[in-house]
Amino acid sequence: MLLKNLRPANDYDRFATETLEPWDMLFVARIRQLAREIPPGALADIGTATAVVPVRLAADPALADWSFIGVDLDPAMLEEGVPRIEALGLSSRIELKVGDALALPFEDGALAMAVSRATLHHLPDKALSLKEMFRVLRPGGIALVHDMRRDAPQALLDRFTRMRAEANYPPTHLEEKVTLDEARALVAEAGVDAFSTVFSPNAGLGAMGFEILLKKPVCA
Ligand SMILES: C[S@@+](CC[C@H](N)C(=O)[O-])C[C@H]1O[C@@H](n2cnc3c(N)ncnc32)[C@H](O)[C@@H]1O
Repeated sequence: MLLKNLRPANDYDRFATETLEPWDMLFVARIRQLAREIPPGALADIGTATAVVPVRLAADPALADWSFIGVDLDPAMLEEGVPRIEALGLSSRIELKVGDALALPFEDGALAMAVSRATLHHLPDKALSLKEMFRVLRPGGIALVHDMRRDAPQALLDRFTRMRAEANYPPTHLEEKVTLDEARALVAEAGVDAFSTVFSPNAGLGAMGFEILLKKPVCA
């Protein structure tokens, strides 16, 4: 199956491992920072594709007490990631699950963290996906969503287009992405705005995107 506007799994993996590393590291660093705030538990990466982010997280000694689940709607993406997980000896730390961001395959309160990068823009009901991430958090759990902004500074968008072209990868579909204000509206539509922070850095690579952070109260 090839989802709309997505490349075949092997081509996505090539791009993700060769070109997306600077963004991976921003996302991974943010997850590490947030994970230090709460006791260890299960962390699911929603729309994980070939599980590049869980692999980076599982290799981090600071997260040795965490377990990781990569969730994706497309089994071909997950299958593409399996050989790397096995080669790195991470099979016992990373589980891969076929699942839909709009109906997450977890019980209420099952996760310490739910994270998702560059996936929100693919989803037909973005507010529902935020509700789902919040639902599956345990009390005190944290959800983190990073995605690209349609209203990012033009110079950064141009830089991203150049990087994609150099990697022989087609231009991004900017029309699918949301603006920072639209991200705030989605959080409100999901009914989780009381627990949220939505922001975009004003400089550096991170300014190409926004962050939605949801913190479930300990006494929800
Ligand atoms: C652009 S890729 C991002 C992959 C990875 N998170 C990253 O940052 O490199 C988007 C991923 O979302 C997955 N996806 C799209 N719709 C989905 C859905 N409804 N539920 C779960 N995954 C979905 C796609 O199969 C794809 O692997």
